[in-house]
Amino acid sequence: MNPPKTEAQQRERISVQIVPHADAASAELARQIAALIRARSAEGRTTVLGLATGSTPVRLYRELIRLHRETGLSFQTVITFNLDEYYGLPRTHPESYWRFMHEQLFNHIDLPAENIHVPDGTVPRAGIYAWCRQYEEKIISAGGLDLQVLGIGRTGHIGFNEPGSSRDSRTRLVTLDRLTRGDAARDFLGEANVPRHAITMGIGTILDARQVVLLAWGASKAEVIARAVEGLPDESLPASLLQQHPNLSFLIDEAAAGQLVRRRQPWLVGPVEWSPKMVRRAIGWLARKLNKPVLKLVDEDYSEHGLADLLTEQGPAYGLNIRIFNELQQTITGWPGGKPHADDTRRPERNAPFPKRVLVLSPEPSADVIGMGGTLRRLVEQGHETTVVYLTSGNLAVPDEEAAMAAELVADLARDLNDSSSVLSAFVENVRQQLGASGSTAPESAYVRRIKSILRRNEARASLNSCGISSERIKFIDLGFYERGRYRQFHPDPRDLTSLTQVLREIQPHQVFSTGQQEDPSSLAAVCFELLRQSLAQTKREPWQADCRVWLHRGGSSVWDLADIDMAVPFSPPELARKIHAIYQHKSQRSQAIVATGFHESWQQAEQQNRALAKNYDQLGLAEYEALEAFERYDATA
Ligand code: GLP
Repeated sequence: MNPPKTEAQQRERISVQIVPHADAASAELARQIAALIRARSAEGRTTVLGLATGSTPVRLYRELIRLHRETGLSFQTVITFNLDEYYGLPRTHPESYWRFMHEQLFNHIDLPAENIHVPDGTVPRAGIYAWCRQYEEKIISAGGLDLQVLGIGRTGHIGFNEPGSSRDSRTRLVTLDRLTRGDAARDFLGEANVPRHAITMGIGTILDARQVVLLAWGASKAEVIARAVEGLPDESLPASLLQQHPNLSFLIDEAAAGQLVRRRQPWLVGPVEWSPKMVRRAIGWLARKLNKPVLKLVDEDYSEHGLADLLTEQGPAYGLNIRIFNELQQTITGWPGGKPHADDTRRPERNAPFPKRVLVLSPEPSADVIGMGGTLRRLVEQGHETTVVYLTSGNLAVPDEEAAMAAELVADLARDLNDSSSVLSAFVENVRQQLGASGSTAPESAYVRRIKSILRRNEARASLNSCGISSERIKFIDLGFYERGRYRQFHPDPRDLTSLTQVLREIQPHQVFSTGQQEDPSSLAAVCFELLRQSLAQTKREPWQADCRVWLHRGGSSVWDLADIDMAVPFSPPELARKIHAIYQHKSQRSQAIVATGFHESWQQAEQQNRALAKNYDQLGLAEYEALEAFERYDATA
């Protein structure tokens, strides 16, 4: 019999293990897989593994490779079946899952080639049904899946079983959801290049595995994880159908657990420690739930909604309300760099020194203005020495069409000016050739990437100039991991860290603004944040750091809990309009997709997020603003 559930788990219909970091979780699962393989192989039996692609399992694969190399773990007795493959992609395509699996795992272990099974994206249409049946039969004749590893898509899909897939579905051809194709757009350099169909194992196929482990990292998965774990099983959210599996667990990191009741409203599921942040979280939740401003909450509101404990410990409501109201009020400031000569005991930022040296570290062009375009302008207007450093060129995010247009512009100009130098025309010719070849994401497309970098630089300059930042205060450090890498496959090395540390040492900032702490660890923003974290740790003892505060914003689609906000900077309607204008300068980043319901451009997302935050404060009875940008203080010494 299973041990009784803890209070926290009672709302959860799936066994969830929350681990602080993706690395630790992946190592734990790799250890379990190794033990399974060894135990079965000692009995002369094979182990049948169901494998997944995407960035989520990459750490697991890295760890399995390490175990193979360092502890002699052998895969000779392992048979693998992959979940899915894009339909229409040959194995050689840079985005094919066949290629992905070979690059990330198979090429580095001793798994016999004949034991590898990945759905074939090139089967002719007429043969798909028969092919899929054979795939199922092969799984059965191998003995069935012993362990299936899963990731999860933002639509709640597993494999490529999109919403609407039935519990009994088997391996088949499916049509990809709009959101899924949008999420894959970056990998394929534009949504137009993302295949429309895929072959995937069915939900029934997955449920037949003897054990299933689903992995998820980062805040972008938090909502879908909470729905899959706490909601009723429903075909509109395929991962929720896993609830019916007898041996299933979700292994997720803190950020992906962020929307579970045990994290968001832990007082509803058990005793909590009433830290100041927790009290704020609870009261913010109560006020929103009852649609009342904080100062109007009464004792009964607390006691009737699971907060009797808080009331006994820190009540009555009257005093509690005032305390929290003031705390929230004090996060709001029109002076993000501190207000000179003002009493700063209750302000988010200190008044001195003034002006401050402010460093905005942006993972790529546009992340800066999306997250803090309004605050940036304020900092400049209030006289701070503000420098924006773009860590990467962002060239991977430029669609080929934009590069082609830029190349033709150069060619036309050379012609107009009767420029006889061969340098420009050779450059244009190289760009044309590389664009003509498939897969311009490849590192060998140096000319294409160069012209794309130039495009993004100029957009960034236009954007920041519109915020009042002059071009000499804008730096591009083009970190090597990005130029060498691909989406979801960035491997920073000590050179990247050195470059970033050099920037910090040169500027010796009093304030650093950045982002990425909550993101999927393989995302660009998270990779950049990790470099910042390491760089700050490395320079911990340098005198400038004693006088430096680090402020983090979040991506445009993230949700903030008011309890996590340490500084909120308000804006008037024209200021919000100017921020949108600044984001709008990143023209190559506008969606190429035909407008569809529910899909938003980055400036729309930022606008919605900033307005929603203002509304949140307003609903709690605080001042009513048009929009707010929020920041969390990061403690580099923790
Ligand atoms: C794709 C794959 C899924 C994967 C999902 C999430 O859609 N077919 O198997 O779980 O992406 O990808 P990631 O792990 O990169 O977030």
